[in-house]
Amino acid sequence: MIKTFLIVFTIFAIFMMGVFGFRGGKSRDTPVRLFPDMDVMDKVKSQKPSDLFKDGVGSRPMVPGTIVHSADDSLYSIEFGEGREGYYYTGMFGDYYGQGMPEELKLTSESADAFLLRGKERYGIYCAVCHGDAGDGAGVTSKYGIAGIANFHAPNFATDQYADGRMYDVITNGKGNMGGYGYNIPVTDRWAIVAYVRALQNAKSIPLKEVSQNN
Ligand code: HEC
Repeated sequence: MIKTFLIVFTIFAIFMMGVFGFRGGKSRDTPVRLFPDMDVMDKVKSQKPSDLFKDGVGSRPMVPGTIVHSADDSLYSIEFGEGREGYYYTGMFGDYYGQGMPEELKLTSESADAFLLRGKERYGIYCAVCHGDAGDGAGVTSKYGIAGIANFHAPNFATDQYADGRMYDVITNGKGNMGGYGYNIPVTDRWAIVAYVRALQNAKSIPLKEVSQNN
């Protein structure tokens, strides 16, 4: 029994060495790659030349208008609020969600319209696919199996039930089946979206009759 095993093992070992060679042994032959693991790829390494581009340089210059993604407040950076404290960045005062737009936005009656329009645009880009243009939770993804998308017109999302800061926090960190957008949407835009969701809720709560009477 042992003898047969040894013979089979030896033959197998010789066979393996014949095919794969010794480990660490050098060979000029093209290596046999059973699992290539993306070792060889068509890619440009940074600072390396490339004949794809006319100037022969692989690394491309920054596109005009490129903005630094960083946490400092310098003129051209966008603020994502990572690791920052205070209502403006977290939506919270201590342990509680706060209500209202933070002072840092420096909103005035003149700037409010532009702020809301910005919120509308951002809402259209980031939220409407799921929550719907009207905020009723019937966005296009709801037809493809994303269940339980919040309907902002439900009573539990009304301003007195659901604080602005809480909504800001959900945009930042996500909740349940909804992912967070803290790395995609700058702080000011998150607040603009909150303001726009409030506008959507208010628009819905004005009875149609009242609107026509006012016109
Ligand atoms: C990919 C789909 C999707 C997108 C995009 C999305 N949401 Fe949601 N959202 C959900 C789902 C699903 C829930 C329900 C989460 C749960 O309770 O499990 C939800 C819940 C919420 C809630 C309620 C959370 C709570 O406390 O119950 C708020 C507020 C909200 N979303 C705001 C937003 C805003 C604002 C945006 C845009 C920045 C956005 N969502 C983008 C899917 C999405």
